[in-house]
Amino acid sequence: KGLRIADRGFLNTAVIKSKITHIDGDAGVLRYRGYPIEQLALKSSHLETAYLLIYGVLPTKQQHNVFQSEVHRHSAMHADSEEFFRSFRYDAHPMAMLTSAFAYLGSYYAEANPSLEGQNLYTTGTPESLTIMDKQIYRLIGKATTLAAMAYRVRQGREFVTPPHGLSYTGSFLYQMDHLGQEDYRPNPVLEKALDVLFLLHADHELNASCTTVLQTGSSLVDPYSAIAAGCASLYGPLHGGANEAVIRMLISIGKPENVPSFIEAVKRREKVLSGFGHRVYKTSDPRSFIVRKTADEVFKITGKDELLETAMALHEAAMKDEYFIKRKLAPNVDFCSGLIYRAMGFPLDFFPVLFAVPRVVGWLAHWRQMMLQEGGVKIWRPRQIFVGAAKRDYVPIEERS
Ligand code: CMC
Repeated sequence: KGLRIADRGFLNTAVIKSKITHIDGDAGVLRYRGYPIEQLALKSSHLETAYLLIYGVLPTKQQHNVFQSEVHRHSAMHADSEEFFRSFRYDAHPMAMLTSAFAYLGSYYAEANPSLEGQNLYTTGTPESLTIMDKQIYRLIGKATTLAAMAYRVRQGREFVTPPHGLSYTGSFLYQMDHLGQEDYRPNPVLEKALDVLFLLHADHELNASCTTVLQTGSSLVDPYSAIAAGCASLYGPLHGGANEAVIRMLISIGKPENVPSFIEAVKRREKVLSGFGHRVYKTSDPRSFIVRKTADEVFKITGKDELLETAMALHEAAMKDEYFIKRKLAPNVDFCSGLIYRAMGFPLDFFPVLFAVPRVVGWLAHWRQMMLQEGGVKIWRPRQIFVGAAKRDYVPIEERS
């Protein structure tokens, strides 16, 4: 009674108070815990930024070292998990594997499961509870790259690689992906740094669909592995983390720059979507897109330019001066160029959403932790509906139905 469909798609509904990420969509501003994304991309690293997002402050040197070594210490997977990955078909989509793997991971840690250990496991804020929470955070961040690399290697029939010592987060990830037995193998430092910047840019973006899914799922007080698996599934959609893959498929389908005008016309007739353009919050360019373009230049110096770059640039130019896009305030988002970088670095196309999900684990955990510790406790997210179906009717046996 008295219910109204208030806000389809949650355009104007705030469900939580947050101190983590601030976006001003009209001004094109993005800040993590108050720090502008441009400064962090230039001066910080993904792991330092992870600490900032989760705990609210930039770490001291000692805090940073402890965090880094804890994340590393928890990065290896149990040998049993090799069978889990080998049980997938050779052509399984890596996001299907990663999503399943996060849920699978929870099966190892009964002590992290509020269904088994008591529903207040994460909500009391006591030192013991915070320690248990930290451990799951280290595990999920540490193992995210390992799971992703396993999803990559299993399709190629390659042996799995134990996370190496002494490399950065993205260095270790690239090592686990690409290592083919050479003892002194080290990833290219420019590519390692570029991926680190991309990871940092993707680490959080406040209440996007996947983060909301993590919180919605987490609001039942389920274990964090299940909540992260749910977020990962949500991220995979082509309107969200699947957009980087969709951009490349779109560019391949357009082919040459001379085909751009007819593609734009098809978008305006609503037959196509311009992937990598538009954003629920930004009504001007996504500030991350400028940093991605600078990063692309660095990467292309090593890898050479992607053959789709010219088509991408022609599309960008055409859209930015077309009345349809101007009127709707549609501009490039973070995904318009990120896929070109991943392609140049040699990642397979269907692996791109994984490269979004792995760093986003940080943001999901930051919001999950914040919600668990929020004043007043956690309230289960249970929205209402307006029922518009049939009124009461009586069951008709199948023989009597026309
Ligand atoms: N191509 C063509 N038209 C578009 C696009 C697009 N990419 N995005 C929005 N529009 C149109 C839309 O049809 C609507 O037109 P009208 O008012 O005439 O009906 C108008 O612009 C407003 O768009 P909306 O669909 O109401 O916007 P939304 O906030 O519901 O959706 C979005 C946001 C990101 C889902 C959408 O812009 C989109 O589908 N973009 C392409 C997919 C994409 O690049 N997603 C990645 C987002 S950034 C990374 C992330 O956070 O996941």
